[in-house]
Amino acid sequence: MTADNPLLEGLEVERRAPPCVLVVFGASGDLSSRKLGPALEALADNRQLPLAFSVVGVARTEMSDDDFRRRMLQVVKKPSAAWERLVAGFRYVTGDYTCPETFEQLRRVLDEVDEERGTAGNRVYYLATVPEVFAGVASSLGEHGLNQPKREGAFVRLVVEKPFGRDLQSSHQLDETLHESFREDQLYRIDHYLGKETVQNVLALRFANSIFEPIWNRRYIDHVQITVAESLGVGHRGGFYERAGALRDIVQNHVLQVLGLTLMEPPATVDAKGIRDEKVKALRAIDILRPEEVATEVVRAQYEAGWAEGEMVRGYREEEGVAPDSRTETYVAMKVRVDNWRWAGVPFYVRTGKCLPKRVTEVAMQFHGVPHLPFASGAAQGLEPNALVLRIQPDEGITLRFGAKVPGQAFEVRSVSMDFSYGAAFLEETPEAYERLLLDAMVGDPTLFIRADEVEQAWVVVEPLLNAWAADEAPLARYPAGTWGPREADRLLESDGRRWRSP
Ligand code: BG6
Repeated sequence: MTADNPLLEGLEVERRAPPCVLVVFGASGDLSSRKLGPALEALADNRQLPLAFSVVGVARTEMSDDDFRRRMLQVVKKPSAAWERLVAGFRYVTGDYTCPETFEQLRRVLDEVDEERGTAGNRVYYLATVPEVFAGVASSLGEHGLNQPKREGAFVRLVVEKPFGRDLQSSHQLDETLHESFREDQLYRIDHYLGKETVQNVLALRFANSIFEPIWNRRYIDHVQITVAESLGVGHRGGFYERAGALRDIVQNHVLQVLGLTLMEPPATVDAKGIRDEKVKALRAIDILRPEEVATEVVRAQYEAGWAEGEMVRGYREEEGVAPDSRTETYVAMKVRVDNWRWAGVPFYVRTGKCLPKRVTEVAMQFHGVPHLPFASGAAQGLEPNALVLRIQPDEGITLRFGAKVPGQAFEVRSVSMDFSYGAAFLEETPEAYERLLLDAMVGDPTLFIRADEVEQAWVVVEPLLNAWAADEAPLARYPAGTWGPREADRLLESDGRRWRSP
């Protein structure tokens, strides 16, 4: 596999993209320079892109090929030689997505690239634009025949960024439009959380070990807490966020994906069908809230001014692009029930928010207490129930909390932690989520992408919340920036005799 690239000689690489062109719509945007560019640079450095590879950027911003190349070099502080070589072959098409000429020009450029770089007619289109134009771009690709392989054996794929619609109906419509030009197996819907190594490790932990799976159920687990906390506010994305809110931005996708992996049954095989079939089955087992339950089982809130990371930060309503009377939630806490044999009676408490005390994502499985504590009264005061915490980010690893005797003459028991840390256990570097996912899309492995039925079911789960909030039928709480959310979220657990962990 090293024949076409002298740089690869003598080097064994794990996985490598086939010859292809990555066409990035929205190439002048934020995602392109913040995530896609650096991910491609890392792939180039790791020798995972062939010489027969190119990027064609498409956007409305006027740019020449050279401007685009300069921009792509600037995505990293110090571009490597491998990256400079690749970037020299990148192309750019300036154009409006509604103009047929844009797609005619794109076709010409793609033909030239195939000729010059030997990219064999293989295409991966990437929609990194605002979501409003997803459907239009996909249809135009279809109308211009760019959805079809140019020659036998070539592949054409379309990568779609989230959000996949704004609700069940619009996501359905989007899918219908996408399916007019692309088959489901050509569609790669990205949820970058699935590209995170530690999210994938949920599968390894559960299905590569014999000690965890037997206790991964209602008999041993009292409840589960999933936290996706961010310390930053909405920054300059106020305008976008006003239309999204935490439910659409994080819960419908990232939280439900992590939840799905935690809930699912062991798949027969760890491949696209095996994983996605089980995940969608798990999502279907989630109890859908009745409208009147939204106010009692879910808390939505918005941050007010407060101290975060040592700085005074302004409240959400004072952010740029945000309405002074905005009702958009920046925090959601929710109790999820799952109706199946494994999980009946085990509540899953999930929470996410902006401007919380720290950036941390974790899944904490909290076990039942022992049936009887055979110690003198007071001996186990420092003992908490056992917990297994999957630390997804930033301090990637796994913690097991259990009781141990405190050294000394008295018999006293206290909770201690046994820690596994990714950084300490492995020398290998962890690839960024986008690196993994871009390569998967080029290689044609859809395992870590979301299938249409999963997207749809995730909307079904959040739909009652969207409806209740649109009708303003549930209160909107407030929390000072830099705190763990509103009191109402604490009460959600207190009413079940539980409390949030402090991550
Ligand atoms: C994105 C959201 O999908 O995920 C952002 O749109 C959020 O609002 C981001 O900040 C969080 O991703 P990560 O990888 O930093 O946890």
